[in-house]
Amino acid sequence: MPVITTIDDLKRIHKRRAPKMFYDYAESGSWTEQTFRENTSDFDQIRLRQRVAVDMSDRTTKSQMIGQDVAMPVALAPVGLTGMQCADGEIKAARAAEKFGVPFTLSTMSICSIEDVAENTKNPFWFQLYVMRDEEFVDNIIARAKNAGCSALVLTLDLQILGQRHKDLKNGLTAPPKLTIPTMVNLSTKWRWGLGMLGTKRRTFGNIVGHAKNVGDTRKLSSWTAEQFEPKLDWGMIAKLKEKWGGKLILKGILDVEDAQKAVQIGADAIIVSNHGGRQLDGALSAIRMLPSIIAAVGDQVEVHMDSGIRSGQDVLKALALGAKGVYIGRSYIYGLGAMGELGVTKSLEVIHKELDLTMALCGRRDVTTLDREVLLIPQDFEGKWQP
Ligand SMILES: Cc1cc2nc3c(=O)[nH]c(=O)nc-3n(C[C@H](O)[C@H](O)[C@H](O)COP(=O)(O)O)c2cc1C
Repeated sequence: MPVITTIDDLKRIHKRRAPKMFYDYAESGSWTEQTFRENTSDFDQIRLRQRVAVDMSDRTTKSQMIGQDVAMPVALAPVGLTGMQCADGEIKAARAAEKFGVPFTLSTMSICSIEDVAENTKNPFWFQLYVMRDEEFVDNIIARAKNAGCSALVLTLDLQILGQRHKDLKNGLTAPPKLTIPTMVNLSTKWRWGLGMLGTKRRTFGNIVGHAKNVGDTRKLSSWTAEQFEPKLDWGMIAKLKEKWGGKLILKGILDVEDAQKAVQIGADAIIVSNHGGRQLDGALSAIRMLPSIIAAVGDQVEVHMDSGIRSGQDVLKALALGAKGVYIGRSYIYGLGAMGELGVTKSLEVIHKELDLTMALCGRRDVTTLDREVLLIPQDFEGKWQP
C-alpha cells in the first residue's frame, strides 16, 4: 500500500488504474479550461494568518449542513458515471461517506441506481436532479428519490446543455466503453478495473435505462444530454419542482448575485456557489472568487454552500472562513475512488479532514463553525473589478 498524504497522490494512482476515457472525463474542463484551472489557482491566492500561544486543544470539525449533523462540512458532490471509475463506484463512495459522517449526493447520471444505493447503505443520501424534457420521467424519478428516503434534492441549474470538453469527444466517451481498437489497447493495461467490471452488472446509467421512454443511444452521455435535458428550465419550473419534491431543496450552480437572490425568493434551503468544476461556461469566474459577493448579498437569508476547485483541507477552511456553511468535493474523492475504491474515498476524506483540522489549529482556532475572515489574508483585489 503506497503512502498517501495528499489528494494529488490519489490522482496519480487514479490516472494509472482507470481507463483513459474515464480519467480524462473527470480531469477536464470545458474549452480552454481557464475556469477549471482558476478554480484551483484562485484558492492559492488566499493566504492564512499564523497565530500562536492560543489554546488549540479539544478541536472540532463537526457542523451541520441543511440541519443535518456532519463530521466536517464537506459533502461528496454528484458526479456522473462514478460507477465507471471503479465497479459499483456510487455504492462504494456512499458507504465511505456514511462511515465518515458526511453527506453523499447521487447524480441523476449515475451508474448505480437510486434504489441500488439505498439498498446498500443505511443512512439517507441526497439526490441530484437534472431536469429532463419528459415530465413523466421527472415526476417518476422524484418519487423514486422520495421512496428511497433521500433527505435532500439537489437541483442542478448550470447544465441544461453540455459544455464542450474536447477530450470526451476525442475519446468517444460512452458507458460502458465502446470497444474500438484504441480503447481495447488501453483497457488491456487496466486489469484491476476490468476484473471489477466483470464482477458487476452495473455498467450503464442505472437511473435511466428501463425508466425513460423513447431514448436513443443511452450509452453516449453527450447525445443523451442534447436529446433529453430540458433547455426551457426556468424559475417558474423550479418553483413547481420544489412543490413536487416537498422536502429540503438545494439549488446547485449559482454563480451570480442576481441568481442567488432569485434562489432566495424561491425559498431554497441552500444554494451551491459552483461553476460545475469548470466543466460548463469556460471564462466564468472561479467559484471561490464569486463566493464573497454572493455571501454579502444573501448569506443571511439562505445557507450558502460552495464547490469547484477544492483539493485540500486548507481550501475547505478558506471557503468556510469566507462564509460558506459547507462545501462539496468532486474530483478530490473521484481520484480516491479511481485509485482504490471505497478505501480511496475514505482516504481522500481523511486527507482533507486532517488538513482542515491542523490548519485550523495553526490559525489559532478550535471550532470549524466559528471560522471567519479573521483567519485569512486576502489580496485587496481578490474579487477583482469586473464590469457587466
Ligand atoms: C466527472 C464529473 C462528473 C460530474 N457530474 C455531475 C453530475 O452528474 N451532476 C452534477 O450536478 N454535477 C456534476 N459534476 C459537478 C460536481 O458536482 C461538482 O460541481 C464539481 O466536481 C466541483 O468541482 P471539483 O471537481 O473541482 O471539486 C461533475 C463533475 C465531475 C468532475
